[in-house]
Amino acid sequence: MTAVYTGKDRRYTGEAVDITYDVKRCIHAEHCINHLPAVFDKDRRPWILADAAAADHVAAVAELCPSGALHYERKDGGQQETAPAQNVIRLRHNGPLEIRGDLMIEDTTVILQDETRAMLCRCGVSQNKPFCDNQHREIHFEPVDPAPSGSQEPGALGPGRLQIVARHNGPLELDGPVRIVNEAGETIFVGQAAILCRCGGSSRKPFCDGTHERIAFTAE
Ligand code: FES
Repeated sequence: MTAVYTGKDRRYTGEAVDITYDVKRCIHAEHCINHLPAVFDKDRRPWILADAAAADHVAAVAELCPSGALHYERKDGGQQETAPAQNVIRLRHNGPLEIRGDLMIEDTTVILQDETRAMLCRCGVSQNKPFCDNQHREIHFEPVDPAPSGSQEPGALGPGRLQIVARHNGPLELDGPVRIVNEAGETIFVGQAAILCRCGGSSRKPFCDGTHERIAFTAE
C-alpha cells in the first residue's frame, strides 16, 4: 500500500523559520554545513539551530540541499520555497539523478508530493530506493552518458508538474515537461515523457533499454 511520505518529521523550530530534516534522504552534500555553520553543525546537539541566522539566509542555504533532505517553513511572512520554472534532471557524473522542479515521486510503497528537490538512484543498489544513498560510490558506478543533442532548443520546455513513477522491478517513468542535462549542464533531452534506467544496467543510459528484466532487477 502506498503511504504519503514527507520526510519532515524532524523539525527544528525557530522564531522566524522552522527547518525540517529527513535523515534517510540526506546524502551528505554538506552545502548546509559549509555555507551556514552557525545554523548547521553536525558536531552539536541539536545539530540545527534555526534562529542562528537570518531567515532569508537559512532559506537560501536550505534550498541548496540537492537531496531534498532539508526544507524550511517561514513563519515571518517571508517567501516560502517555490518550484523552479522548469523541471530539470541533471545526470551526476558517476552518480544519481539530481532533480529540481515541480515534482511528484512515487513507487509501490511511498508517494512524495509537492517536492522541489530529489536525488534518485540510477546505479540500482541504493538501500533507500527510489532515493540515492551514495551506494554508487561503493560499486564504482561509471555510466557512459550520451553526448548533448544539438537539436534540443533551450527554451522549448513549458511549466508543469513532473510525475516520476518508479515501477516495481523496473524503470522510472516520467510524465510531464522535463529537461535532462549532463554534469556540465548541456541538454541531452527535452520532452513530455521519458523512461529512465534505475537498475544501472541499460546500455543506452540514462534511458531504459529493458535490461532490468534480463538481470532480474528488484525494487519496490
Ligand atoms: S531500469 Fe535499467 S534497463 Fe530498464
